[in-house]
Amino acid sequence: MNSLPLGLLPDTATVEADGALSIGGCRVDAIAEQFGTPLFIYDEQHLRNRCREAVATFGVGNAFYATKAFLCTAMARLAYEEGMGLDVASGGELFTALRAGVPAAALAFHGNNKSVDELRMALTEEVGHIVVDSFHEIDRIEALHREGLPTPRVLARITPGVHAHTHEFIATGQDDSKFGFNLGNGDAARAIDRLRRSPAVELVGVHCHIGSNVFSAANFAKAVEVMASFAVPLDLPEFVMGGGLGVPYVEGEEAPTITQWGNVLLDACQAMGVRSRVCVEPGRSIVASAAITVYEVGTVKHIPGVRTYVSVDGGMSDNPRPVLYGSGYEAFLPRAVTAPRPDRARLVGKHCESGDVLIFDAALPDGVAVGDLLATPVTGAYGHSMASNYNKLTRPPVVFVRDGVARLAVRRETYEDLVRCDVMP
Ligand code: LLP
Repeated sequence: MNSLPLGLLPDTATVEADGALSIGGCRVDAIAEQFGTPLFIYDEQHLRNRCREAVATFGVGNAFYATKAFLCTAMARLAYEEGMGLDVASGGELFTALRAGVPAAALAFHGNNKSVDELRMALTEEVGHIVVDSFHEIDRIEALHREGLPTPRVLARITPGVHAHTHEFIATGQDDSKFGFNLGNGDAARAIDRLRRSPAVELVGVHCHIGSNVFSAANFAKAVEVMASFAVPLDLPEFVMGGGLGVPYVEGEEAPTITQWGNVLLDACQAMGVRSRVCVEPGRSIVASAAITVYEVGTVKHIPGVRTYVSVDGGMSDNPRPVLYGSGYEAFLPRAVTAPRPDRARLVGKHCESGDVLIFDAALPDGVAVGDLLATPVTGAYGHSMASNYNKLTRPPVVFVRDGVARLAVRRETYEDLVRCDVMP
């Protein structure tokens, strides 16, 4: 019977006199009317608040927004305006950040398999940091150096052998990982040695990222301990602890705030004698609860003795997380935000497979009907950025709301967009 926990909604969410939801001073029903469904609505003030919190905790330029969580030019610009650097993990993310006007010096370039072309682009643009992930990557950078490209400042990505409590697909710190140089088997020390001697790079620090959607601050403190034991004797100027802070998605979940997470990390660094500049790369914790996705209900099917299916006009193409990781979400009616939710149903999309599930067992208000707007909160991270065109669905638009104004940040794709790369004989 519990109604939606309002803490899952963006910072500026308010309930109007008629029970309907507004964000950023704009009614959600009016935004849906204007831009259609499905759509992502982002609370711009919420995004700025989280960026400011990260910058206040770690210092200007020491918190890098992990763009993989959600990237468009408006977001890249916003994070940079608020004093963050940007973590980019592909040529495409790098391109988008540069196109947004973010200076290359504010970017850190990641990836376990950066191509020669991507590295050439990063070196030519002179990105602020390259996070070197493998011995093969060092070979590639050295080859590019011989072509006369500039010498990059690099961090060595270390795999500390720390298990983070999260889904195995998004845990990255354990020994059995495709990422980085393993600490345990001596690769990390060998990489540092080689990077120090290489004329092609300037080694400025070490980096680790133990995983994503991690709720336990103790996991991060443990990673600091392991990394600091390795890095303090190296006496390098930078020490990067990655991202990974989890957020509550459903009723009953709790996560540390960015400030609390930061204090745990910084205290652990201090206790371990880290004198370097400490940097982080939060993604999810900046953007996840800034957004909701709004859908329209298209069919409701009751199967007596089995279950009810509520189908909406999006699905696994705009939110693959339930299918990929079994992630949980809540649902609510934007016209009746605080309504009790006594009904149970499986919330599904419109794709041609049974696995197309948004919420396996959703609590819903009584009488959800065809034509209702239905929303899922906390969809700001790894939703739009992982969206696909499966079944040739057009990807939804992104609308930023602030101070009573709703502006389009990413327009809805058109059918023409769906065939723009096709080459006809
Ligand atoms: N730094 C590095 C090197 C990373 O690999 C990641 C995330 C981050 C920072 C940001 O982590 P965050 O603060 O967002 O947890 N698609 C998955 C998440 C994959 C995360 C990949 N790397 C999901 O939807 O849960």
